[in-house]
Amino acid sequence: MEIINWKELLYPYAQTVDELLLKFRSLDKECRQLGIYSPIDSVTGRLKRPASILEKAGRKQISPDRIEEEIEDIAGIRILCQFVEDIPKVIEMVRKRKDMTVIEERDYITNTKPSGYRSYHMIIRYPLFTALGEKTVPAEIQIRTNAMNFWATAEHSLRYKYSGNIPQELQDRLKNCAEAAFHLDTEMATIREEITNAQRLNEIKNNLVANILENIQNLYFVAKLDDMNDIKKEYIRLWNGDDMEALKEFNEKLNIMAEMYRV
Ligand code: GTP
Ligand code: MG
Repeated sequence: MEIINWKELLYPYAQTVDELLLKFRSLDKECRQLGIYSPIDSVTGRLKRPASILEKAGRKQISPDRIEEEIEDIAGIRILCQFVEDIPKVIEMVRKRKDMTVIEERDYITNTKPSGYRSYHMIIRYPLFTALGEKTVPAEIQIRTNAMNFWATAEHSLRYKYSGNIPQELQDRLKNCAEAAFHLDTEMATIREEITNAQRLNEIKNNLVANILENIQNLYFVAKLDDMNDIKKEYIRLWNGDDMEALKEFNEKLNIMAEMYRV
């Protein structure tokens, strides 16, 4: 049997994980900076280890020369959402992208697995430009809520510990946990708007405060000391209160001051 050069084989997949992480994290970051709602809560990624690639190849009777094409989750990222309702938004985001092609979707949310597993999987093909040339590789994107992830991570650890044969009693308990996670998602959905509104307000306030601080810092170099003392006092007073409109007005005032000193 030929010996697999893992370093060479895995390199493109490692690059794929890096690029996908960067792209989806940037989307999330951009939304936050623009003050638009982001359906992404966090993104993680991993490269499948050689031992588990070989285990899967053995289990699915995939010959070594077919590994790269047929094992679709050598590169994998996981997009976590706060709410179930965010999941279709992320799915749409992935489908619309021109830098990756969706080749398969598995909806284990509508069709919960017998284990209790819930998650939405998309298999994509991702074009890479490596030092050795162009190459397109498969990758798996798992999309799930934090509650679904909490359950799946716990179940995965147990499955690993018991080499796949989880004792019946534990399986029953896991089933209960899966139902509890489902219940949590359903309950959270009912106060979703309330939560996201509060989060948006925080985001807006943080952006505003960052803006104000930047203005104050710039004014330090050019403004009169008396003006600066007044500004500092007013800033502290407004920061302690929660009058967003007053903060906005204050920021406007600083913008105008900065303009005046500039000319
Ligand atoms: P493998 O399960 O990896 O052999 O892949 P597959 O080709 O059978 O695809 P499937 O969609 O069933 O699973 C893909 C991935 O989803 C797995 O590698 C796991 O990360 C996750 N997954 C699927 N089923 C379960 C489950 O019952 N429990 C947990 N914790 N994860 C699961
Ligand atoms: Mg499976």
